[in-house]
Amino acid sequence: MDIQQIMVIGAGQMGAGIAQVCASHGLDVYLHDVSEEQAENGRAGIGKRLDREVQKERINDADKERILRKIHPSSDLKNAEEVDMVIEAAVENMEVKKNIFQQLDDRTPAHAILATNTSSLPITEIAAVTRRPEQVIGMHFMNPVPVMKLVEVIRGLQTSDATHEATAALASRLNKTAVEVRDFPGFVSNRILMPMINEAIFTVYEGVSSPEDVDEVMKLGMNHPMGPITLADFIGLDTCLYIMETLHDGFGDDKYRPCPLLRQYVKAGWLGKKSGRGFYLYN
Ligand code: CAA
Ligand code: NAD
Repeated sequence: MDIQQIMVIGAGQMGAGIAQVCASHGLDVYLHDVSEEQAENGRAGIGKRLDREVQKERINDADKERILRKIHPSSDLKNAEEVDMVIEAAVENMEVKKNIFQQLDDRTPAHAILATNTSSLPITEIAAVTRRPEQVIGMHFMNPVPVMKLVEVIRGLQTSDATHEATAALASRLNKTAVEVRDFPGFVSNRILMPMINEAIFTVYEGVSSPEDVDEVMKLGMNHPMGPITLADFIGLDTCLYIMETLHDGFGDDKYRPCPLLRQYVKAGWLGKKSGRGFYLYN
C-alpha cells in the first residue's frame, strides 16, 4: 500500500515528534489537535527542533522549510477524508481514543489504516468501535521520536496481515526498527519499563532516597541514560499513571498498583517537564 498522506492526531510531544519524522521522510502530514492553536504550537515546536538540526549542519534552511511545508496544522477532522493513514497520539484514555476512532471510521477513506500510538491500551478494544478492525493497529513510537529507533507494532485480534505489513513498511521507511508484539497490557516496553519507574517513585515516597539520588543510582550503577525519576518527568507523570492503571486493571495484580505519590502529583497538575513541574522544576 502506498502511504503518502497521513494524519497525526494529538500535537503534543509524541504527535509532534511523529509528524516531524513522517514529514522528514517525504510524507504529507496533517497535525491535528483540539484547537488550531494547539496544532500550530506543535508545528512551531518542530520548527525549533529543526533549527537545532540546521545549527548542527545536519540539514540546511531549505530542508527545514521543505519539511515544515509538509506539515499542515488541523483542527477539523474533515481533513481525514484525504488520508491514507492516521496515527493517533492523543491522551492515554480509552474513552477519548474510542471516540476519535469512531469519528475516523466515518471520515477516512475505506483503504485508510487507523493506527494508535497508545502506550498500553488494548488495540483490540479500540478496533472494536470501528467497522474496519482489520485495518486498526498499534504503532508505538518511543520518546523522543526523532531519536529513538524502536517502534512496537501491536496487532489486535482482527488486524490483517496487509495492515501489519504496511505498518512495518512505514516504520522502516521512517528509519525505525519495528518489533511485533502481542496485544497485552503495556505490550513489552511499558510492561517492563513502567513498573521500574513506579518502584523508583515508591523509593522516594517511602523516604528511602531523594529523586536526585535514585536517578544517580540508576545512571551510574546501571548505565541508564536518564534516571527513572527524570524519565518519568520526561514521559509525563499523567501518562505514567494511566499506563500503571492499565497494567493494574488489565492484569488484576496488585504488583502494578500506582504509587500514591504519583497519583498526588498528577492531581496537583505536576505532570513533569511538559507542565514545568514534576519531581523536578523546569523553566
Ligand atoms: N526531541 C528530539 N531530539 C532530542 C530531544 C527531543 N525531545 N531530546 C534530545 N534530543 C536529541 C538531541 O538533539 C541530541 O541529538 P544528537 O546527538 O543527534 O545531536 C541527542 O538527542 C542527545 O541529546 P542530548 O545530548 O541533549 O542529551 P542526552 O545525551 O541526555 O540524550 C536522550 C537525550 C536521547 C533523551 C537520552 O537521555 C535518552 O535516551 N533518554 C532515555 C529516553 C527513553 O528511555 N525513552 C523511552 C521513554 S518510554 C517511551 O517512550 C514509551 C512510552 O510509552 C512511555
Ligand atoms: P501530550 O500530553 O504531550 O499530548 C497530547 C495531545 O493530545 C495534546 O496536545 C492534547 O491537546 C491532544 N488531544 C487530547 N485529546 C484530543 C482529541 N480528542 N483530539 C485531538 N487531540 C487531542 O501527550 P504525549 O506524551 O504526546 O502522549 C500522547 C500519546 O502517546 C498517549 O497515548 C501516550 O500514552 C503515548 N505515548 C507517550 C509517550 C511519552 O513518552 N510521553 C511515549 C510513547 C507513547
